[in-house]
Formats: sequence, structure tokens, C-alpha cells
Amino acid sequence: MLDRQPPHPRLATAALRRFAALALARTNQYGLRTITTPGLVAAVPDERAGHRPSISPPAVRMIDALTPETVEPLLRGRFGRPLVYEQTCESTQRLLGADLPEGAAAVCDEQTGGRGRLGRSWEAPTGTAILCSVLLEPPAERVVAELTLVGGLAVAEAVEEATNLAAQIKWPNDVLVNRRKVAGVLAEVADGAVVLGIGLNVNQTREQLPGDAKVAAGSLLTTDGIRRERAPILGDLLFRLEQAYDRWREGGLDSVYDGLGARDFLRGRRVLVDGEVGLGIAVDRQGRLEVEIGGERRLVESGEVLFER
Ligand code: BTN
Repeated sequence: MLDRQPPHPRLATAALRRFAALALARTNQYGLRTITTPGLVAAVPDERAGHRPSISPPAVRMIDALTPETVEPLLRGRFGRPLVYEQTCESTQRLLGADLPEGAAAVCDEQTGGRGRLGRSWEAPTGTAILCSVLLEPPAERVVAELTLVGGLAVAEAVEEATNLAAQIKWPNDVLVNRRKVAGVLAEVADGAVVLGIGLNVNQTREQLPGDAKVAAGSLLTTDGIRRERAPILGDLLFRLEQAYDRWREGGLDSVYDGLGARDFLRGRRVLVDGEVGLGIAVDRQGRLEVEIGGERRLVESGEVLFER
């Protein structure tokens, strides 16, 4: 895992040069020459992400992989076992057969048909994002729709751990940092199980993010200018998801509500619901969004809520 504080650009570059001298140079699976040293990745402000370093960043760009050899040593619990990895696939949502145990996860470096909520697509340039699906078998008494919030909580915690910045959850499935969507969660039911998909933007530059999204998109890189290895974030995310899921499985949404309530992005914001302007009140303990429109309280169960920036 990287240092949480962005290093001063000059220190980062000096350190990088020093480590590069000792580093292992090789050509990765993308045909690019990478230089790596154990535990170190180029953590320098990146001008392509909108940050202007005072000196030129080094030419080295790390592209890491999410292969089982890289990720498995970083797993701390049941989730991610087994880890199904394909370098390229249509969607990780399709890689988890019902014969696999709960907690099995699928990851890839590139999706050709990534899926988002409400029939949208989900795109990320090769090797820049965490694209992950996890197989879940919740008990019948639980409300499956709540899983996007449970997943959102785990992602928000993992983003906070990686960046030291506050992450918020925009009902029902977005994770935001500084008002930009850095991750989305998608719960789909297949063969009686739930496949929970997570797309987390890690190393996309500003130009590599969709410019026409309903909620402005961001990545961890565009947020603080730091490039990160994805594998440690994925390992942490899977563990946090397991913890949040286990609590929810036992006690429902109430048992994770504190974490959700504390990160409720729409609370107190002007929102647009089905074309009507209102005020976001809060995500309630049943996972609905309470809004006030024209002096009346309403509970929104599903759909999309936009907000005023
Ligand atoms: C959204 O915000 O609309 C949800 C996006 C979910 C994207 C992830 S990426 C990994 C998994 N595979 C997919 O095809 N979709 C989910």
C-alpha cells in the first residue's frame, strides 16, 4: 500500500530515481516496460490528471495487474476465494457460475461490455480501474436491493483508506469524492444468487473519464494526483465488503446504518426526483431515500436522483 500522504514532487522524484536504480525492469503483459521495486509505485503528481508538478514527472508509468498471484497474498478473509481472473472479458458480472462458493470474486483488466445501472454501460481504459464482481448468497429474509448500499459502504471505506480523503455515498449506488463519482455498484440476481459488481476508478486521467455522465466522474488519480497500485486496494475492498456484508446478513441495514448515514451525500442537498425539485432528507433505515418536495415528505424506493452542484 502506498503512503497515504502525497509526497512532495521533488522528494517523490528523487526517491523514484534512487529506487529505479535498484529496480527490477521488465516488460509487462501490455508490452510496456515497467520498473518496479517491492512496495513502491510511482506516487507522483500527474499533470495529465490536472495536477501541475513543479518539475517533470518521471517517464516511468506503473501498470499493475490484478492476477491471482498479485491479489491472493493480499486477501484477508473469505472474499476473493477463489479469484477468477481474465485479462479481458465482456463483463465480470458474467464470470461467476452458481457452482462457486459465496465470496468468489471475478476481476479483469479490461471489459468489452461493462454494465452499469439502469442499462448504462461502464467503461474504463485497460488497467486503470478496479472492475470486480463478487458472488453473494444472502438469506431470504434480506432485501437484495440494499446490497448496493452495503457495497457502497465498503467501497467508501476502501477509498478513504487509500486516499485519506472523505468518501460519500450517493443513494443508491454511487461513491463520490469531492462531488465526483469515483465508483459505482451494481447488484444483479442470477441463478438465485446475487452478483455484486463494483467499478472503482483508480488511475484514469481526466481525459480518460466519461465527460457526459449524469454525475461528474472522477478517479483517485484526478482527485489527488497520485497513481496507485490497484491490487492492495482490491484486497482491502474485498475484506471490507465481507465485513459489511456479514453485519448486514446478520442484522440487516440497521447494522451498517451508522457508516451509511455518516456518508450520506444527498442529505441536505437540492435534488431532482422525476423532474421535480426537492430537498434530500436522508437515506432511511430501510434503504429508501427520503426527500421533501413542495413541503411534503416522500420516500423514493428506486430510480435516479440528481443533485445540484
Ligand atoms: C453504476 O454506477 O452504474 C454501476 C457500475 C458497476 C460497474 C461494475 S465494473 C465490474 C462489474 N462488471 C460490470 O459489467 N459492471 C460492474
